[in-house]
Parts: sequence; C-alpha cells; structure tokens
Amino acid sequence: MELVRPSPAHLDSYVEALRRGWSADTTRQQAADEELSAIEANPEAFLAIMDDRDAAGPPITLPDNSTVPRLPSFRLWMWDGVFCGSIGLRWQPGGPDLPPHCLGHAGYSVVPWKRNRGYATSALAQLCPLASEVGLPWIDLATDVDNVPSQRVILANGGELIEQFDKPAAYGSQPGLRFRIYVGR
Ligand SMILES: CC(C)(COP(=O)(O)OP(=O)(O)OC[C@H]1O[C@@H](n2cnc3c(N)ncnc32)[C@H](O)[C@@H]1OP(=O)(O)O)[C@@H](O)C(=O)NCCC(=O)NCCS
Repeated sequence: MELVRPSPAHLDSYVEALRRGWSADTTRQQAADEELSAIEANPEAFLAIMDDRDAAGPPITLPDNSTVPRLPSFRLWMWDGVFCGSIGLRWQPGGPDLPPHCLGHAGYSVVPWKRNRGYATSALAQLCPLASEVGLPWIDLATDVDNVPSQRVILANGGELIEQFDKPAAYGSQPGLRFRIYVGR
C-alpha cells in the first residue's frame, strides 16, 4: 500500500468506495453523498481541495452542521491498485496549536473491506515525516474511548496518550482520548 496524491486516475475507485457507503468523514453520515455531488459537479475542483495548503476551500461542516473556517490541509489516498482509504493532515501556520473545534492534526479511515491489513498503521507512518515537513514538531490525534483499532494504529507509531477530554458540544460532548506523536527532526 502506498499513499498517493489524489488525481484523476484515482477518482473512479474513490467514487466506487463512496457509492459503497464509505466516507473519509467518520462523524457525518451525509458526507459521502455530499462528496459524490461535488465530484459530479466539478471533479477538478474536488481534487484541488484534496491539497489545500492555503485553506482556500469552503468552510468545514462539524457534526452538528455548524461551520468553521478551514485550516491548511491535505489528504492522501491509500492505494494498493485500488482506493483503500484516506489520511489527512491539517494545521495552523506557525505552530502546533489547534483551534478547539479541531480535535487533532491527523485523521484517517480505511474502507471496511480492506481493514486489518496494516494499512492505517503504514499510512500514519508515512504521514509523520510529511507533518514534520510542514513544520509541526508533533501531531495530536483524537479517538473515541472505545476505538481500539485506531488507538492501536497510533500506539504502533509511537503515540503517547496525553489526556482524556470531553469533545466540544458540536461533536456531541462525548469523552475522547488525545494522543501525541513527536515527528520533529
Ligand atoms: C481505525 C482504522 C482506520 C484502522 O484501519 P486498519 O487499516 O484496519 O488498521 P491496521 O490494520 O493498521 O491496524 C488495526 C489494529 O487494530 C486491531 N483491531 C482491529 N479490530 C479490533 C478490535 N475489534 N478490537 C481490538 N483491536 C482490533 C488490529 O489487530 C490492529 O492492531 P495490531 O496491529 O496491534 O494487531 C479503521 O478501523 C477505520 O477506518 N475505522 C473507521 C474510521 C476511524 O475510526 N478512523 C479513526 C478515527 S480516530
């Protein structure tokens, strides 16, 4: 499995995953349909948003449907001949701090039919040097308390548990765990 920069050559396979009900956004059911509509309307614009280091794209919709300004971000796709998952990084220029509505720097999701092959673990390992390249000394990642697979992915990459916290109201105020991986050179 390699991480690829989303391109027209990868788009049909990505659309197939969306049609099967997978979404990179694990917090909003309707996200897959929204992405399918966006790709149908303007595939080039959709692909451009996958690498949006100037935060030029539209605002981000939170689980309660409120919107917040977009941060600089990019997404890469896991690819083993077909699309198998997505991993993304977002950050604030100038340092590792994040606004309270952004629970972590990195997020990932593997399509259900490609899980338990080590893909997320490998994707996060490949992302860490890229986080260092944008100037981050560490990345924070938030998981649900019961998301053991994601926690194992983080721990396998040297992550340390830093706190249990209550998610903001926009995320349902449920408890979460925050981990940190040091990526600085
Ligand atoms: C979390 C997720 C990305 C993991 O992807 P993956 O490619 O299957 O991950 P990996 O194969 O690299 O590693 C999964 C680990 O979880 C373990 N695992 C899987 N299912 C498990 C379960 N039900 N209970 C405990 N451990 C489990 C695997 O054994 C493996 O650990 P190991 O390497 O120590 O054996 C995937 O389950 C997913 O997309 N979930 C939905 C989205 C999500 O939760 N994203 C993360 C948000 S924080």
